[in-house]
Amino acid sequence: MADTKEKPWQGRFAGRTETSVEEFTSSLHFDRRLYRYDIAGSIAHARMLGQQGILTADEVEAIVQGLARVQEDIDRGAFVFEAADEDIHMAVERRLIALIGDVGRKLHTARSRNDQVALDIRLYLREQIQELLAALTELRRAGARLARRYFGVIMPGYTHLQRAQPVLFSHHLLAYDEMWQRDQGRLQDGLKRLNVLPLGAAALAGTTFPIDPALTAEFLHFPAIQRNSLDAVADRDFVVEFAAAASLIMVHLSRLAEELILWSTAEFGFIEIADAYCTGSSIMPQKKNPDVAELIRGKSGRVIGHLTGLLVTLKGLPLAYNRDLQEDKEPLFDVVETVLPCVRLMAGVLANLTVKKENMARALRGGFLTATDMADYLVTKGVPFRTAHAQVGQTVRYAESKGQELAELTLAEIRQFAPVVEADLFHWLTVEQSVQRRTSPGGTAPERVGAVLAAVEAELGLAGREEETGQS
Ligand code: ARG
Repeated sequence: MADTKEKPWQGRFAGRTETSVEEFTSSLHFDRRLYRYDIAGSIAHARMLGQQGILTADEVEAIVQGLARVQEDIDRGAFVFEAADEDIHMAVERRLIALIGDVGRKLHTARSRNDQVALDIRLYLREQIQELLAALTELRRAGARLARRYFGVIMPGYTHLQRAQPVLFSHHLLAYDEMWQRDQGRLQDGLKRLNVLPLGAAALAGTTFPIDPALTAEFLHFPAIQRNSLDAVADRDFVVEFAAAASLIMVHLSRLAEELILWSTAEFGFIEIADAYCTGSSIMPQKKNPDVAELIRGKSGRVIGHLTGLLVTLKGLPLAYNRDLQEDKEPLFDVVETVLPCVRLMAGVLANLTVKKENMARALRGGFLTATDMADYLVTKGVPFRTAHAQVGQTVRYAESKGQELAELTLAEIRQFAPVVEADLFHWLTVEQSVQRRTSPGGTAPERVGAVLAAVEAELGLAGREEETGQS
């Protein structure tokens, strides 16, 4: 049997590799995450070689059983990785040969590590995307449940972070559901392009063996096969697409995190984040800090950074495989391992959130939030909108100088600026009416928001109204 320390490519070399070079070039400390996918890919490859008569049935059997043992070893932590292994593909192959002897040396027939690694990342990422899609569904469920629990609660809507117009709290939350739906759509869309079997491209030009990639694709559940071997080993678009989709997920989470942080300040006091999702200060005994939300906001930076890093790594690479491509893995793994917990933790934060309705109600006062409603009212009385806008502006200035709200002025006071106003204006000036009247599609009226929420609940398999009745 061959010396197990010998590298598969040793034949060409007279001298041994510098230790520092071994360390520098090795990807084992991170790509060992891929072992299950690597082994699954190798089993499918071996079976295909068997079907095609390139390996005998006995050889395939020995290889498949050997690979299963390697997997068991790694699963239970009994596998001894060696620095000289270079990467997970070589580590698995070395162990296979050690276990089953020379027949293990046949596994790499009609294959290269270049198409092998392209396959492994696709298998890995395909699974992670499913996890992420499921986590996003759970997040959406937590958001929809919260929207249901506090359905009807009105808060100030903001533009420029200045109080603007009253909106339903549920409407605000459901804005994030729209983002999360698009996030899921982007992942699913990327999945189509990712789900292509690269195996068979071999090193770069294809292979002289009569392989049947359609069979390998069937074993591994790939609906499509690569059509250009050069592209198959050089393409990492799907990694970039995933990192881009993940970056947007993080941006959405970060925006929500920022709102939660702001809303939980004493200044806003709109919400309380559950103790389980906060931490304290080592010096200030009174502190309860929204660290989970802050870290989600903070971690968005590194995911966006990885997207940029990946693009820069690819830019300028000539076809086909270059070792630079090994640099795709650490960013990819870090993106996956950052986004997944962020999505899951945000779901936990929302599931345990308390909304302080009284404080939201208090914030609705004093900001002239229904000034637009007064302008709309004047328009219904025949005043052109621009004129109405100016009249309301003057009325607001007057009310402000008196330290009063619009609804606290007398009809006579208001008529100084807006002569056509009647007593029915006061109905228009309540925040409830303001919300109620915004029935335009996508608007904040309870009937509109209720219909959207019901549709979201139906999509997510939530019982909705019945489930939460009486809970708020
Ligand atoms: N560890 C390598 C990577 O991640 C595997 C492919 C190596 N191929 C090669 N020809 N050196 O890209």
